[in-house]
Amino acid sequence: MGGSIVGWGAHLPELVVTNHDFAKRLDTSDEWITERTGIEERRMGGVCSTMAIEAGKIAMARAGVTGKEIDILILATTSPDQAIPATSSRVHAELGLSGGAFDLNAACAGFAYALVTADGLLKTGHRCALVIGSDTLSSATDQEDRSTAILFGDGAAAVVIKADDSPNFIVAYDLGVDGTLGDLLYQNHGGYIHMDGREVFRRAVRAEVDSISTVLERADLKPSDISLFVPHQANLRIIEAVNQRVGFSIDNTAVVVDKTDNTSAASIPLALVAAADAGRLHEGDYVLMSGFGAGMTWASAIIQWGPTK
Ligand code: UT7
Repeated sequence: MGGSIVGWGAHLPELVVTNHDFAKRLDTSDEWITERTGIEERRMGGVCSTMAIEAGKIAMARAGVTGKEIDILILATTSPDQAIPATSSRVHAELGLSGGAFDLNAACAGFAYALVTADGLLKTGHRCALVIGSDTLSSATDQEDRSTAILFGDGAAAVVIKADDSPNFIVAYDLGVDGTLGDLLYQNHGGYIHMDGREVFRRAVRAEVDSISTVLERADLKPSDISLFVPHQANLRIIEAVNQRVGFSIDNTAVVVDKTDNTSAASIPLALVAAADAGRLHEGDYVLMSGFGAGMTWASAIIQWGPTK
């Protein structure tokens, strides 16, 4: 039993914060941020549940499904509204869903982890999954620390996956974690994000390149068979370094980091939704999503874009 993405939607909070806004109050500049990261602006002021609900509504409307038809919700997030209960409970109630719901924390690799989890649940008999990535890491960031403040924005994006007769939803996947590297990027309860940026950069490129090679091999595909590469949106230089090593072109890569910044679990689906909205995805296309993040976690998944009705 396979499945296809039949609906998608995104939500960004209204407040736009540009690099120039940071330069007014921190020892930084638009030039430094653009050159080192490719980021121009980000959205702030989001709440995990609210953004997830809005993105979920759009995805459900596009899919033409009611809440009752959805029998599983997975919310990928590292910035839930509360420690208890899981934010997915609130989202489940607001959207009037049936079946179960749970939060999944695999940091910026969370959405790819959630897609693989949804694939497994479709195979055990679920009929329709709502998978959402929603994060509000701007509130987890010390806005006085120029080395992290400029790097994180807020947002959410969602997909509806319906079981169908296709052989697979996920064609191939790779999930990984190296918990010995947890200190490279962490946030204590009640504290702010700490990150060794240079080391995360180096490890991220290596992890993504290895993970992408693994899924291509498992799917028996070449880089040129991939119609769209949807990487985690942390830094344009990381995306370019991965592309160069794997052999993907920037034209076949979904990039939104310039306008969204790093939105953690929301970053891959935000890029996917932008590509789908722009008509860049067609039935039969192979789409490769790949993310890395705190943990360090990484995840790659290849899906084949299905009929969207
Ligand atoms: O989802 C995963 C999350 N994280 C990431 O993916 C982040 C991965 N890392 C990165 O994207 C990059 O390492 C950064 C953007 C964080 C930093 O870029 P870099 O080219 O690795 O710079 P650097 O850390 O080597 O810092 C160069 C200099 C330092 O000054 P010194 O030590 O050379 O005097 C920093 O203090 O740039 C300084 N710096 C800044 N200058 C202006 C750091 N942040 C800023 C800033 N504005 N905002």
